[in-house]
Amino acid sequence: MMAAKVAGAVNLDELLDASTLEAFVLFSSNAGVWGSGGQAVYAAANAFLDALAVRCRSAGLPATSVAWGMWAGQGMASVEGVGQELSRRGVRAMDPERAVAAMADAVGRGETFVAIAAVDWERFVTGFASARPRPLISDLPEVRTALQNREQDLVDEDESSGLLKRLSGLSRVRQEEELVELVRAQAAAVLGHGSAQDVPAERAFKELGFDSLTAVELRNGLAAATGVRLPATMAFDHPTATAIARFLQSELVGSDDPLTLMRSAIDQLETGLALLESDEEARSEITKRLHILLPRSGSGGSSRGREAGPDAGEYQDVEDATIDELFEVLDNELGNS
Ligand SMILES: NC(=O)c1ccc[n+]([C@@H]2O[C@H](COP(=O)([O-])OP(=O)(O)OC[C@H]3O[C@@H](n4cnc5c(N)ncnc54)[C@H](OP(=O)(O)O)[C@@H]3O)[C@@H](O)[C@H]2O)c1
Repeated sequence: MMAAKVAGAVNLDELLDASTLEAFVLFSSNAGVWGSGGQAVYAAANAFLDALAVRCRSAGLPATSVAWGMWAGQGMASVEGVGQELSRRGVRAMDPERAVAAMADAVGRGETFVAIAAVDWERFVTGFASARPRPLISDLPEVRTALQNREQDLVDEDESSGLLKRLSGLSRVRQEEELVELVRAQAAAVLGHGSAQDVPAERAFKELGFDSLTAVELRNGLAAATGVRLPATMAFDHPTATAIARFLQSELVGSDDPLTLMRSAIDQLETGLALLESDEEARSEITKRLHILLPRSGSGGSSRGREAGPDAGEYQDVEDATIDELFEVLDNELGNS
């Protein structure tokens, strides 16, 4: 792949007589411009051609590198599965006559590099700009509109408030069941299955055929249904319907998992310490409390119950106590309250 493209172009460049050339046109690909999954070598080879055009132009040669999108007809679009996959991602097949006219125009204007492609920006942006902003395309009017539409579409107020209302009347177990069904139904819709039954709750999304694009579609559907801002990587961070349901449950109605509660308390502690950076007195008070807590967090000791003491109060089991109650006990031990 590399040899055919790179060595071919380099050889031509060396052999051609710049003084007699009207144009030196390199056929490159948008795989080297915005990337293309599974085509790293092809992308690198094409990026080389784009750079070669710059070098040639600066040496006085009328070089133009054209990074093509997908041509209709024979070639890449006709390879089984490739055309459909690119269309799904918003790269449409180019009408050859329009593509050739665009190339002639670019060469005529003395462009060194152009990307020519037929793109459905609404679709393209879904995958390409899901994880982070993309300055490469963000000033295109169609992209701006697509991004604005996406923000507006993201939350379906009626659906999400209805869901919250339903959840608030359910036990935690029923809440989780309801959310698992929601995730399964959304995942089935994204994968084109007829029913939620086709998405087993414990089966990894990857095994079910999810890729980066369908993962984003699932995220968008669930964000709309729940009103929760969800990360683009959600289906990878929480890889099954059950895992996402639990994540959504803790986002929507909070968590009763002691570990989750403790993690969030420690996060708050970290933030608080940063805020108290210059308050020596306050920091020393917090440090004292932490010194008392630390031995109890050791895995060697018992995590259940606490040493009996005059201030032990009614907390037989640390897991029964809220964070405030724990601090209350500590206050008593420190004689602060
Ligand atoms: N088709 C597209 O949608 C598309 C999109 C982006 C960029 N491009 C670029 O446009 C160009 C043409 O694409 P295409 O789809 O028309 O390709 P294609 O139908 O596969 O034709 C490729 C041509 O390159 C020749 N070739 C392949 N390997 C070679 C090697 N090692 N040494 C010498 N010749 C070799 C082939 O020769 P044989 O006939 O003897 O095999 C064939 O004539 C390529 O550079 C491609 O990267 C195409």
